[in-house]
Amino acid sequence: MNDPQPTSDLQVTPLEGEALERDCAALMAASDPWLTLGYGFDDLLRTVRLPGRERYAAHVDGEFAGFLLLNLHGTFAGYIQTIGLAPQFRGSGHGAELLAFAEQRILREHQNVFLCVSSFNHAARRFYERLGYSQVGELVDFLVQGHSELLLRKTIGPLRQRKP
Ligand SMILES: CC(C)(COP(=O)(O)OP(=O)(O)OC[C@H]1O[C@@H](n2cnc3c(N)ncnc32)[C@H](O)[C@@H]1OP(=O)(O)O)[C@@H](O)C(=O)NCCC(=O)NCCS
Repeated sequence: MNDPQPTSDLQVTPLEGEALERDCAALMAASDPWLTLGYGFDDLLRTVRLPGRERYAAHVDGEFAGFLLLNLHGTFAGYIQTIGLAPQFRGSGHGAELLAFAEQRILREHQNVFLCVSSFNHAARRFYERLGYSQVGELVDFLVQGHSELLLRKTIGPLRQRKP
């Protein structure tokens, strides 16, 4: 079966301003996996404001639809720290579009895209596997006791193969 195609355009722009930061934190605070992981709004607002991240907001027809937080530095450079869509925009292909945007951005500079997915987040795991991600590690009891964070990777080749 084909992946669902979005019915309207997803606009991705740099995430700026307190109102959008609060929209992102509110989206997460009302949704799994963050509910099960026990994060509250204030924790999540701090996450959205972490320094050194590249941040993007997604809108559909002018409505806030979701966001991306990327970490382009360090050992796992090319790490998608967070991807989230508001519930009314899930299940219709916008997630794949937003992920494709993240991949294009990361693979301009890096050979790998990394992300973690919670072991109980079965729908998201299927989503990533469909889009070419493989599990390369398991961080047992990493955020909370009893659940793992699964490290996933999509690669375009070894680091040393990259042309300068
Ligand atoms: C994960 C996410 C970005 C995927 O984007 P998407 O546009 O929903 O992707 P898809 O349309 O391909 O659907 C992916 C899965 O979401 C589930 N889904 C479908 N419609 C849904 C809806 N209305 N609400 C919630 N989940 C839905 C489905 O189970 C689907 O998996 P399946 O087709 O294998 O059953 C998005 O669903 C999301 O933001 N989820 C909540 C936050 C989250 O889990 N983020 C990832 C953290 S690692």
